[in-house]
Amino acid sequence: MQKYLVIGNPIEHSLSPLIHNYWMKKYKLIDSIYEKKKVEKKDLKDIIDQVKIGQIKGVNITVPFKKEIIDLLDRVQGDALLTQSVNTLCKFNNEVHGYNTDTEGFRESLQNSLIDYENKNIFILGAGGVTSSILKAFVGTAKKIYITNRTKKKAEELKKLGDKSVAALQREKETIEVIDWGEKTKVCDIVINTTSVGLTKDENLDLDFGDYEKNKNVLFYDLIYNPKETNFLKDAKLRGNKTMNGKMMFLLQAQIAFKIWTNISPEIDDELMRLLD
Ligand code: ATR
Repeated sequence: MQKYLVIGNPIEHSLSPLIHNYWMKKYKLIDSIYEKKKVEKKDLKDIIDQVKIGQIKGVNITVPFKKEIIDLLDRVQGDALLTQSVNTLCKFNNEVHGYNTDTEGFRESLQNSLIDYENKNIFILGAGGVTSSILKAFVGTAKKIYITNRTKKKAEELKKLGDKSVAALQREKETIEVIDWGEKTKVCDIVINTTSVGLTKDENLDLDFGDYEKNKNVLFYDLIYNPKETNFLKDAKLRGNKTMNGKMMFLLQAQIAFKIWTNISPEIDDELMRLLD
């Protein structure tokens, strides 16, 4: 039996098992099973040991362990380094490696919708667990990145992560600007909600986007996909802006993880799309 896990705390809400078990069935990996497991910080080392001895084939990590797990790993690959956020584990040459598939999943969600995100002005709301992955997607390509968080210090810490990208160091220092929560920026091309506001129905960000009225070229992107349309997106639609929720990003990050584990690039088909509704 090939065992896969998504670990986090809380974990009940996770839809990752639905996606991965769907693909395991579709691609006839009949001896594979993907489960969710609520864990505490003290359990992380044991999970990694199980990956090392082959008892667990692959792991997804979710809130709040994406950063904490890093120190326990043999190696951290690619986007996971700069974002300091690991959402996927896989054994490689007898070592347990950590990957970040959120950044690429997010970037591909823009590309698939033919959104031109290079050399644009980007406005990122929030500085929580997933935000570094979103920031990384724009580092090196954006004209300007504004980032704001209710707790400003956390946004400032994220900007410092941008500094760690050696190649992009000089450019990024000027590109990323932390602003106060509620402060206005010039009208940006893409506005992304990475906060948890909207997960509970009728929650509102209470930010003023009046300047974006009737601007159909601006994309308002909410990482939340359940509910399908948060007030952030409803308001954007009413203003005449483009909108997108986090469903495709969620599927795409899963697709990349599945490929790392199985070498199969699974299809995001209509049935799977419906399963998530
Ligand atoms: P964590 O901060 O532990 O990583 P998260 O769920 O990944 O948790 O992030 C929550 C994000 O939503 C944070 O940016 C948080 O802002 P703070 O850092 O100020 O807490 C933001 N958030 C949550 N509730 C909010 C609210 N009512 N108004 C504005 N931002 C909110």
